[in-house]
Amino acid sequence: MKVLNSYERVQKMNSMQEITIRQVRPEDLDAVTEVEAVCFPKAEAADRASFEARIKAFPDSFFVAEEEGRIVGFINGAVVNETTIRDEMFEDVSFHNGTGNYQSIFGLDVIPEYQHHGLASRLMRHMIEETKKRGKQGLILTCKDRLIGFYETFGYRNLGVSESVHGGAVWYDMILELEA
Ligand SMILES: CC(C)(COP(=O)(O)OP(=O)(O)OC[C@H]1O[C@@H](n2cnc3c(N)ncnc32)[C@H](O)[C@@H]1OP(=O)(O)O)[C@@H](O)C(=O)NCCC(=O)NCCS
Repeated sequence: MKVLNSYERVQKMNSMQEITIRQVRPEDLDAVTEVEAVCFPKAEAADRASFEARIKAFPDSFFVAEEEGRIVGFINGAVVNETTIRDEMFEDVSFHNGTGNYQSIFGLDVIPEYQHHGLASRLMRHMIEETKKRGKQGLILTCKDRLIGFYETFGYRNLGVSESVHGGAVWYDMILELEA
């Protein structure tokens, strides 16, 4: 990663303020597929067909971070009636049930040159706020051990090793219970 000097850091911080978070649109399909391919190894990355299905099934649980027309990050996930994510859910949008109790997070991505400036945190806070407004019970996700501490800062609790074998990695189940 390039180390920024203090002038570059201020420039970057200012430009980060210009980033808007909005709901995904069908025309964002190629851009989100590319962001995913940059952020995840091939075995873990969702492909174009998955994103196409997700954008159709749950556009209101799919938010992108956009700077001057360029998608630099996103967060998305189905609404489900279970307290943990199962691997089948990633590929089958029929698990999405808008009236379900839990907002899942299938993916949180920020392209490398925009990382470490709080953008993933903004996307996560946006999803949590939307989920609260919708009166859901909470949010769920799976993550690798190195990100457990990151998600704990939002109030997620670690439920231990997940049954997920997604991409051949070890994942942890995390849950954020919202106050009624
Ligand atoms: C993970 C990811 C989304 C983070 O994006 P980001 O915009 O850099 O995140 P933020 O700047 O909002 O937050 C990062 C900060 O959280 C904190 N943080 C990170 N890991 C942490 C941990 N384990 N414990 C406590 N705090 C942690 C640190 O303060 C970190 O700041 P730093 O990056 O300057 O060290 C991004 O690196 C990414 O897209 N990675 C590839 C895809 C991926 O792994 N996604 C997560 C799927 S589970």
